[in-house]
Amino acid sequence: MKIFLDTCNVESVRNAADTGLISGVTTNPTLAQKAGRADYRKMLAQMCDIIGLESVSAQVKEDQTAENMFLEGIELESICRGKIAVKLPMNPHGLTAAKLLRRKKGINTNITLVFRPSQALLAMNAGADFVSYFMGRQEAKLKEKWGEDQKAPSGTKSYAESQIQRDLERMVNYKERYRFGSQILAASIRNVEHVELAADCGVDAVSVPPTVFWEMFSDNLGLTEDGIKRFLKDREFLTG
Ligand code: E4P
Repeated sequence: MKIFLDTCNVESVRNAADTGLISGVTTNPTLAQKAGRADYRKMLAQMCDIIGLESVSAQVKEDQTAENMFLEGIELESICRGKIAVKLPMNPHGLTAAKLLRRKKGINTNITLVFRPSQALLAMNAGADFVSYFMGRQEAKLKEKWGEDQKAPSGTKSYAESQIQRDLERMVNYKERYRFGSQILAASIRNVEHVELAADCGVDAVSVPPTVFWEMFSDNLGLTEDGIKRFLKDREFLTG
């Protein structure tokens, strides 16, 4: 399972990419705003220069016709040929543009704002390289609807978590059953538990905020850090 970073902060990506564990980056206008990067295209070019990244998702303007999304997609992809995945909204124009970008130009695409397996089916049919399922937003919405503490019949997961798990499992299942070439990407990730849930379901990639990436190095009880300290202390006994 590949790990992508979900940010427009170039320095954060450089730091994380130095570990050698990051395969790509996903961006959007909200993340650009958060990072203070009004110069979206310049930021994308800087991301593409970072060693080790295979894919940088660049989002087209969301309210355009398929033809205009197609044209903007070609322009965005020219920032770094072969590395940019054009990110398109989950709607008829976005999916038509995805199909055209793949068929006519061989350009990679990422369909964003996917919340249901049937939407994923459409995106996979359009030949999308990435299908981005929004875990965090889905969970927040479902918790709003069903309440925070409701537990699923198994008692181990909330209804919201169970629903997200089911959605992801179905998407992975559709992909395998019908042999689609798309990668299921778990996006809108809020915590390490989301990463683990996505991995349990067999997704191809997760896109995590930098904070979640660094949290993934720790266990939730502090045992890794304590263990390192203990080894370092006991090392004082060693003479050779
Ligand atoms: C990634 O491709 C998405 O754009 C991102 O994860 C959005 O999620 P959020 O705005 O809910 O955090």
